[in-house]
Amino acid sequence: METFTTPADLHAWCAAQKRLGRAIGLVPTMGSLHEGHLSLIRLAKERCDTVVVSVFVNPTQFAPDEDYAAYPRHEARDLDLCAQTGADAVYLPPPEAMYAEDASTWITETLVSRTLEGAQRPTHFRGVCTVVAKLFNTVQPDLAVFGQKDYQQVAVIRRMVRDLDIPVEILRAPIVRDPDGLAKSSRNAYLTPEDRATALSLSQALRAARQAVAAGERSAATLQTAAQNTLRAAGWEPDYVAIVDAETLTPIPTVLPGATAMLLACRKGRLRLIDNTLL
Ligand code: PAF
Repeated sequence: METFTTPADLHAWCAAQKRLGRAIGLVPTMGSLHEGHLSLIRLAKERCDTVVVSVFVNPTQFAPDEDYAAYPRHEARDLDLCAQTGADAVYLPPPEAMYAEDASTWITETLVSRTLEGAQRPTHFRGVCTVVAKLFNTVQPDLAVFGQKDYQQVAVIRRMVRDLDIPVEILRAPIVRDPDGLAKSSRNAYLTPEDRATALSLSQALRAARQAVAAGERSAATLQTAAQNTLRAAGWEPDYVAIVDAETLTPIPTVLPGATAMLLACRKGRLRLIDNTLL
């Protein structure tokens, strides 16, 4: 497995792979890899000849009061996991290789990124779009794989790719959960055993909503109230419980099965968790 730390070196290697006729899959990550990330690497491997994993805690997607400094970093372990899972190259740029000190160009998606996470974290998706576009320019992948855990992120990136004619297929991979239902996340490392137990209320709220829809419930308001009650009863204060069009993320009053997503975010003290499901 190759490792790279500069865009120029990675770009040259990827160009050589392309000249050999190899299709490239990219899995962008912020490291601290868990089974969810490994599932993305496996999916990329199934579809592509060469798989590049980027491991970069992207400073521009964190607000000043967020956890950039504290974000878990496990580089040596990440490299082992990438090698074991069949990655062909890992890109670990230091921040100064990614951003010039006076960098002044941003990519801003202005519709899908404005609500939900974007409303809580106004500069987050600008940072995500900019870094992902930079990775696409460097690697020029045929396929890029992102996890459904960050549902809005995938929707925003799909828009960016469409609107800017970036020639890459975006694959949204299913959420990987612990056996008890908690969605895998690098930030689960912040949970005490007690927080972790109450955090199961997120997946429980989503499961209850899926069951209610399967039983015929269509009212978004009814589903939202039930989910809010479940979260609050477990000590988690909802930031939002949204029932939206699965593509545009526009709120909808009535569930259209197969074309609707339910997204939730909630807080407990300094902890914040998100989860989602298609309905
Ligand atoms: O989902 C993430 O880990 C990050 O937002 C991403 C896509 C790697 C961009 O920094």
